[in-house]
Amino acid sequence: MYCTLKEARALLAAKPKYPLGFFPTPLHRLDRLSKELGVELYMKRDDFTGRNLFGGNKIRKLEYLIGEALSQRAEYVFTYGATESNHAMQTAVACRKAGLKPILYLTAVVPVDEADVRSNLLLDQVLGAEVHIVRMLDGETEDEADERALQLAAVRRAELEQEGHRCYDIPMGGANRVGSAGFAEGYLELTEQLEALGLRADYVYHATGTAGTMAGLAAGRKLIGSSAQIVSVNVSPKDDSYLTKAANLANEVLAWIGAPKELKVDAAKDVERESNFYQPGYEKPSRESTEAIKYLARTEGLFIDPVYSGKAFAGLLAHIRSGRIAPGSTVVFWHTGGATALFAEKEIVGELTGELIYDR
Ligand SMILES: Cc1ncc(COP(=O)(O)O)c(C=O)c1O
Repeated sequence: MYCTLKEARALLAAKPKYPLGFFPTPLHRLDRLSKELGVELYMKRDDFTGRNLFGGNKIRKLEYLIGEALSQRAEYVFTYGATESNHAMQTAVACRKAGLKPILYLTAVVPVDEADVRSNLLLDQVLGAEVHIVRMLDGETEDEADERALQLAAVRRAELEQEGHRCYDIPMGGANRVGSAGFAEGYLELTEQLEALGLRADYVYHATGTAGTMAGLAAGRKLIGSSAQIVSVNVSPKDDSYLTKAANLANEVLAWIGAPKELKVDAAKDVERESNFYQPGYEKPSRESTEAIKYLARTEGLFIDPVYSGKAFAGLLAHIRSGRIAPGSTVVFWHTGGATALFAEKEIVGELTGELIYDR
């Protein structure tokens, strides 16, 4: 039996949570784009989660993760990502607010230029996080370098624990049952907002990386028996095990919050990934994502980023234009933040500049 919104909210309310953001985030119609594309297009503004201009989807997860860290009386928080990781930067923000010390292990997918530190890596330093850069070794894959980052962090953690400090570990992207619970809550929030407008979403589109957001949304959708189709656009190559991983994580969230046992997310039916828009790779812009960023800016005055939402929005546009999304459908695009990437290294940003006119 599905939960009512009220019952679902009560399950989540029983878990430790530390307030970090500004919720509910706005949901609004994109009027000009809706008219131009022939669908009812709404945007869920998780770029406005806070705590500052550079919010994003991780703040929802961090409310639960930091809640747990504090309940365990941790002093240090470890987390992982790429050097321009939004998650790592937002974790440092959350730690500072909560009085915890952030330690970041960051894989240099794009090499760091110490003379020109940008974007999230710059903010990590402003925040005074302890930043460890894990350089990619010759012939090493990203996954192997990430694995090495975990091993290096384990050594640092053991050192701190030996000195008597308590440490809390957050996986890359905050993708575990505790963090993803924040997105189950996000799904309830969206549903409440749609109901207040007298609407039901046919589709929800968003960018997916670690699958933490995807799993949380799938758990929230299952909890209340919603029929919206969630399309998760991946931003790096993923094999078929990705759907199983997302479904398993969603089920861990449902179990953790004490959802009715018969509510289970099915990898074959309840999660969907769109894999045609991540190319040429993670942190590498594509022609479609560059066009999507400019198109949204030039029709609605809104900014999305080249690494995540640019690719997801490109996928959404392609699905609307090809008719895969039927005309007149109600579609929500979940803006997951990340606009700092617009100010990152040139190879991440891509070709966004236009012609400048010098009048005499
Ligand atoms: C801006 C942005 N959008 C989307 C995602 C994907 O979220 P997840 O890792 O939960 O799949 C991330 C995560 O790194 C992100 O920073």
